[in-house]
Amino acid sequence: MSLQVIQTLSSLQQLVAEWRNQGLSIGLVPTMGNLHQGHLSLVEAAQAECDKVVVSIFVNPLQFGEGEDFDSYPRTYQQDEERLREISADCVFYPSIQEMYPNGQQGQTLVQVPSLLTGLLEGALRPGHFDGVTTVVMKLFNMVQPDVAVFGQKDFQQCAVIQKMVEDLCVPVNIRIAPIARDEDGLALSSRNQYLDASQRQIAPVLYQQLQWMSKELLNANQKVAEVCKKASENLLNAGFSQVDYIQVCQVGTLLTVDLIESEKLSCNYYVILVVARLGKTRLLDNLLL
Ligand code: PAF
Repeated sequence: MSLQVIQTLSSLQQLVAEWRNQGLSIGLVPTMGNLHQGHLSLVEAAQAECDKVVVSIFVNPLQFGEGEDFDSYPRTYQQDEERLREISADCVFYPSIQEMYPNGQQGQTLVQVPSLLTGLLEGALRPGHFDGVTTVVMKLFNMVQPDVAVFGQKDFQQCAVIQKMVEDLCVPVNIRIAPIARDEDGLALSSRNQYLDASQRQIAPVLYQQLQWMSKELLNANQKVAEVCKKASENLLNAGFSQVDYIQVCQVGTLLTVDLIESEKLSCNYYVILVVARLGKTRLLDNLLL
């Protein structure tokens, strides 16, 4: 079957109903487009589990704050469609802003996960961001009614927030988190990497190198977490990063900062290092489970 390109909710519901009548399972991969290998690996993960896969492409204005890159966010729909055809995705849902928010953004009911989780890290620096994410993701869940939805580990806090929403609201969707896809030099794939100029692109892999260095340091007993974070932050600035927004070791479930590593918890993905640093104006996110 060829890729079905759908722009309206009514056509999407019709297609989903047909699939359901045939007893087929459905996977959803929500994206903002500008698809790279990282997104395609999410689609492949959904394909491995489901009979049909819907990829949504929607640059969601509700999750961008004032002065952020909503207007300049790369929109490459033709190329995205081509990539989805190449990997035999079943449907691309590409709604307009009017289709997604018929009552305007101000008139939209919001889905809000408690600030204990959304007020930290990204949420502290981008107020309202996660309300925009959970609102659009919940709408997409209700529109597609998938069995499975796949998200990328690169946006670690986003994954935690969505998992909490699904749990708290008893949303009948199985969430899968796919590992971070990286370039050969270790840089996590991201649509925002294309904002980097040639010299910034050369510096960018230092972010992952520092995560790996921190992970080794923290596995040694008696290492003070705060000191390791401080040293990594200095290393990033010395390498040419313009700013480190945060670099923290957190507990995976709560995302609360930890200042002491308990060695017996090291084997069970209990800790994660989360980092956001800027090269010029470009914010690069990365993370590593300990
Ligand atoms: O991760 C993203 O691309 C977006 O935050 C998402 C999940 C598609 C919601 O707009």
